[in-house]
Amino acid sequence: MKSTRVIKPRIREILSRELPPELIEKLPKHWVRIGDVLILPLRPELDPYKHRVAEVYAEVLEVKSVLRKGRIGGEFRETNYELLYGNDTVTVHVENGIKYKLDVAKVMFSPANVKERVRMARVAKPGELVVDMFAGIGHLSLPMAVHGKAKVIAIEKSPYTFRFLVENIELNKVQDRMTAYNMDNRDFPGENIADRVLMGYVVRTAEFIPKALSIAKDGAVIHYHNTVPERLRPGEPFETFRRIAREHGYEAEKLNELVIKRYAPGVWHIVVDIRLFK
Ligand SMILES: C[S@@+](CC[C@H](N)C(=O)[O-])C[C@H]1O[C@@H](n2cnc3c(N)ncnc32)[C@H](O)[C@@H]1O
Repeated sequence: MKSTRVIKPRIREILSRELPPELIEKLPKHWVRIGDVLILPLRPELDPYKHRVAEVYAEVLEVKSVLRKGRIGGEFRETNYELLYGNDTVTVHVENGIKYKLDVAKVMFSPANVKERVRMARVAKPGELVVDMFAGIGHLSLPMAVHGKAKVIAIEKSPYTFRFLVENIELNKVQDRMTAYNMDNRDFPGENIADRVLMGYVVRTAEFIPKALSIAKDGAVIHYHNTVPERLRPGEPFETFRRIAREHGYEAEKLNELVIKRYAPGVWHIVVDIRLFK
């Protein structure tokens, strides 16, 4: 993530010759660079000039493609960003020593989740079995296999995202300890196998708690993500998890809770580390 308070002088210089002065001040002062693809937040006033603006940002910032920032949505958390410049949005992004290959136009990769990706590299222990129920391209579980030397089962439902997950396992040379499954995690047959379960999903994560309970071993740690309105904190999202665990005859202990990011006005993306007793 690159955040500045000023428009880059070179961008200002080039576009000042082409855009009305009042629009120059509305040019983006921050952006996200993933590999050599740029995600640019662009105000609607700049619409008539969007392709030229993107072209100049691409030249000055030396990226091959520029996407317009938009909302992430749907079951597969797809981005559907508008392509403003270039034609190739597949790139390799390197973060914390991990190579993430992805199509930035389709697959979400949130700069705000970087702390969690780095934290997961530290919490994983050599040889333990991690089941990642919402693997994406391996956002959270690649660091656990690469740096934590954990064994990982990574489950991803979207066939398009799955292709990158498989490539990333090879790119990061962890084929010996990381295996990917292209399926709905609710169809995953493993029971009582995981020392650690990753539930890196939002909005509907609670629907998947029963499956996480069956995958986890007694004493396992579950990293339970969800989106929570401010008014339900600090009880949620843990209370729902504990209620469902108790309905299955299990006990849950909250070990730690962190805010990942603001998800929407008044709504937080939270992760709770939970120990499960079966
Ligand atoms: C928002 S991404 C999160 C990636 C990563 N866990 C993180 O937190 O950065 C969630 C991923 O879960 C996948 N997914 C959604 N429902 C699923 C299901 N029922 N089974 C397996 N994967 C699923 C989506 O396709 C998407 O790639």
